[in-house]
Amino acid sequence: MKWIYPSLRAVIVISISFMTAFAQEKFIEVITPQDNVLQSELTLNVVTKIDKKGVDALKITTALEQINIDIKSQRETECKNISLRLGENRVIIRAYKNGVLVDEKTRDVYVYSQLYHQFKYPPQKYSKNYFHTDTNEKSCVKCHDMSVNEVKGVAFEDITKSNCYGCHKNITKEKYAHAPAANWLCTSCHSKKNQSKYIAPEPVNHSCLECHEENKELWSSAKYTHEPLDSGDCNRCHNPHSSPHKMFLRKPVNEICLGCHKDKDIQTQQIKNSACSGNSNGELCINCHTPHASNQPFFLKKIAKKAAK
Ligand code: HEC
Ligand code: HEC
Ligand code: HEC
Ligand code: HEC
Ligand code: HEC
Ligand code: HEC
Ligand code: HEC
Repeated sequence: MKWIYPSLRAVIVISISFMTAFAQEKFIEVITPQDNVLQSELTLNVVTKIDKKGVDALKITTALEQINIDIKSQRETECKNISLRLGENRVIIRAYKNGVLVDEKTRDVYVYSQLYHQFKYPPQKYSKNYFHTDTNEKSCVKCHDMSVNEVKGVAFEDITKSNCYGCHKNITKEKYAHAPAANWLCTSCHSKKNQSKYIAPEPVNHSCLECHEENKELWSSAKYTHEPLDSGDCNRCHNPHSSPHKMFLRKPVNEICLGCHKDKDIQTQQIKNSACSGNSNGELCINCHTPHASNQPFFLKKIAKKAAK
């Protein structure tokens, strides 16, 4: 039985040294994102620093996509804009040399939403992480112009000329895009605060109403205002950048309303003793109600009085 001992030892020694080699050699370093970050948009930048001697291909895998990157260029940084889904996302970045896996990193990212109950309360391990600090930007300025090149109130003739475009182009790609975002006037809402150069105002309503003055006047003089409007979070219902729905709503309008007013859903409730017909016959809530404010009780539009026979 003596002969087993050395060969077993050899196996152990080999596997330990392989494991330490795998752990010690840093073939890739993920510059962004950090692990366990919380965000609200469905796009993310993945930037990886590569030891080109040890790596000839990268693979980025998420539940939505798999991106293969052949490392041919001379530079040692690979940048990719990827898509995420609501809730938890695991981003796995794998590095290969001649088809053999040599390094692997994972990043967990949570996309939260105030409108879907299930994505409203992220697990504790996630927290907001701001990218635009001088320190972080240092790792990009070598190759990217990180300065602001927009002129206040003047739309870009060619939006690809905005310095923000290359890294954030997906933020305005949806069908309905909001004018200031679609024209890449990003700093009309984002400005420098402690944590980042581009913090969004919170609550956002003051900033929205600076441009939407007519609404401001109309709503501040209205007799009744809707609670979500009073709270100032216009971005609960509207995406400030772009969305697949009209008025950049985060969801189709009835889904937005029913998210908070479940008792008006005839699929699940019997609406009784009320002049409110909810979503019966697929009717839109906003055919009769305004979402913001009104002089009529229940935020009824004038026409609704006639409609509700
Ligand atoms: C060594 C040069 C270099 C560095 C450093 C670098 N980039 Fe890039 N990046 C590029 C080039 C060149 C492109 C043009 C597209 C391409 O060929 O990948 C690019 C493209 C991008 C894109 C668009 C990718 C896509 O899918 O369209 C993003 C996002 C990006 N960079 C983010 C960053 C961030 C963030 C940093 C700093 C943390 C950074 N880059 C650092 C060279 C660099
Ligand atoms: C070199 C790439 C790059 C450029 C150029 C760039 N950004 Fe970013 N930005 C990032 C990355 C990376 C993040 C982190 C979130 C992500 O991955 O999408 C980010 C996050 C943000 C955020 C969220 C707050 C924060 O600090 O994390 C805002 C707002 C933002 N960028 C606005 C801008 C604006 C406005 C410009 C143009 C003046 C700009 N960015 C130019 C890469 C870039
Ligand atoms: C009308 C105001 C407004 C404009 C214009 C605007 N943003 Fe935003 N942005 C916001 C608000 C509000 C948030 C906070 C999160 C939310 O509601 O989605 C935000 C969040 C972000 C984030 C962080 C998203 C995350 O995942 O946490 C990025 C990145 C960003 N904006 C980039 C941009 C860029 C790039 C532009 C220019 C094309 C731009 N924004 C224009 C209001 C605006
Ligand atoms: C920098 C000025 C500016 C800011 C800030 C701004 N908007 Fe706008 N918004 C516009 C312009 C310009 C239009 C297009 C013209 C119009 O219809 O009024 C527009 C259009 C809209 C529309 C579509 C109106 C329609 O009839 O099609 C909605 C909804 C909207 N904005 C909501 C918001 C919300 C919510 C905020 C805050 C998160 C906001 N806006 C902040 C300038 C702004
Ligand atoms: C409860 C969800 C909700 C909130 C909160 C909300 N909106 Fe709206 N908003 C809507 C809906 C739904 C429409 C579409 C109405 C229609 O098509 O008749 C709309 C339409 C608009 C329009 C275009 C039509 C109009 O009435 O002028 C503007 C501008 C607008 N919203 C701005 C804002 C601003 C600014 C805030 C925050 C102060 C805000 N919204 C908060 C749901 C909301
Ligand atoms: C974020 C949650 C939220 C969303 C989204 C929302 N509401 Fe409301 N709504 C409330 C709250 C809270 C109240 C005040 C409490 C109450 O009376 O139920 C209210 C009140 C109302 C009232 C008046 C109730 C009364 O007794 O005076 C109407 C009508 C109404 N909402 C319609 C809508 C419509 C239409 C939509 C979609 C455009 C909508 N709501 C979207 C939270 C919401
Ligand atoms: C055909 C017009 C019409 C449509 C469509 C409609 N409503 Fe109403 N709604 C009314 C009227 C009228 C009232 C006032 C009821 C009363 O006088 O008791 C009302 C009242 C309400 C109230 C407050 C009082 C109550 O009954 O709880 C809420 C909340 C409400 N509606 C939400 C909605 C939502 C959410 C939708 C879409 C799913 C919707 N409504 C669709 C006409 C309508």
